[in-house]
Amino acid sequence: MSVTAVLLAAGQGTRMKSDFPKVLHPICGQPMLGYALDAVEEVSTEKPVVVIGNGAEQVSELIAEQVRFVIQEPRLGTGHAVLQVESLLKGQTDHVVVTYADMPLLRSETIRELVETQTENTGPITLLTVVADDPRGFGRIVRQSDGTVKEIIEEAQASPDELQIKELNAGAYCFSSSWLWEALHRIKVSPKGEYYLTDLIGLAVADGLAVQAVVGSDPTELIGVNTRIHLSEAEAVMRERINRFHMLNGATIIDPQSTYIDKGIRIGQDTVILPNTYLRGRTEIGSRCEIGPNSLICDTKIGNNCRLLMAVTDNAVVEDHVDIGPFARLRKGAYLCKGVHMGNFGEVKDSTLRAGVKMGHFSYIGNADIGAETNIGAGTITCNYDGTKKHPTEIGENVFIGSDTMLVAPLKIGKHSRTGAGSVVTKDVPEDTLVAGVPARPIRKLKEKDGN
Ligand code: UD1
Ligand code: MG
Repeated sequence: MSVTAVLLAAGQGTRMKSDFPKVLHPICGQPMLGYALDAVEEVSTEKPVVVIGNGAEQVSELIAEQVRFVIQEPRLGTGHAVLQVESLLKGQTDHVVVTYADMPLLRSETIRELVETQTENTGPITLLTVVADDPRGFGRIVRQSDGTVKEIIEEAQASPDELQIKELNAGAYCFSSSWLWEALHRIKVSPKGEYYLTDLIGLAVADGLAVQAVVGSDPTELIGVNTRIHLSEAEAVMRERINRFHMLNGATIIDPQSTYIDKGIRIGQDTVILPNTYLRGRTEIGSRCEIGPNSLICDTKIGNNCRLLMAVTDNAVVEDHVDIGPFARLRKGAYLCKGVHMGNFGEVKDSTLRAGVKMGHFSYIGNADIGAETNIGAGTITCNYDGTKKHPTEIGENVFIGSDTMLVAPLKIGKHSRTGAGSVVTKDVPEDTLVAGVPARPIRKLKEKDGN
């Protein structure tokens, strides 16, 4: 039995009041279209088809490899949208699943239930309904006296009595392909000038055919996104789902209400996430770490046994046993090797801090390579920018950079050397050498008794 999913994503999303296509608005870091697609992909035996229109170019760019596209132009409603795939799918599939791309919380399990029900249905349609107090502008399900579904009335067309109906159209259907295409041509234009897909239910009943309804048990699945208020509601539900997933997977989240984790992030076992922490993008966190509170971690790979306290990181890598913060910032290209200690008010960009580097207080390290076990004294700055270009700083292993040293790049400091407090180092420093002053000059060669 073949099942092909059709995802409708051509609508303007007028109620979002946005310059961007509605289905590209992110929920927990991923465009809402991505969730809808993940859900149908699991039940579609064929490559899904997405109907696009508004912002077609941007939308197709996002998911071009996963799906086939059909463009709907002009956009005359959901029934008209499905009609656009007729030439592609007619005679090619047994069942057609139709869902809307603005329903990001619909689960694949629920769509599977629809398909299973339809396989046993003698009639042509199975649809998903939900019973809820807040109608959210959804279509109302009208039942016949024997309890079977009679029709769907869109809110704009509903009478005061019909508006009271609590059973709503969730916007997911499984159709028998052999009936669908012919019936779509019979939909009449609504007073609003649209062809409603939901009119198919009334048409099937008029044909004397059985319409089945699966009544969804989870009302959160019904949160379709038509406005920014719905978007925030969807975000809250998705956030809760993601947090529960990580907790069931062995991470501790002290306060899920104030923990914001994007879709697709990996967190190892026994890691603790403290309140008011954001984990975003392609972030990966190892085991036994402590992250937060008050941290914003973006696209960062963190090893095991790390502690990031009040940190902001972006496009960085942190190996095992690193501790950072409070109030630390890793910018793009920051690479902290095993056992690095980076204390308060530090900033690292495009730099590698090799194993065991200590940078305790108030330093800026940019475009630098710092050798293993080197100590960066409080207030050290790599002066990497001359107003036009960035220049590199290279510091060997076991170097001791005195407090408040200005390292004027380009600059190389050999291993086992030292700089005096307050030095402004403008010339390369050979190995085992103590320099000091403004500008810094060599004072003497260092021997083993100097602690090197
Ligand atoms: C629709 C249903 C309503 C249901 C609700 C659930 C219809 C007529 N109504 O209303 O019964 O309760 O969803 O969320 O189907 N789209 C196109 N082309 C178009 C128009 C829309 O592709 O010409 C797409 C939109 O991008 C959207 C989806 O279809 O993803 C639904 O359209 P929308 O305008 O949001 O319909 P609702 O008013 O929410
Ligand atoms: Mg909608």
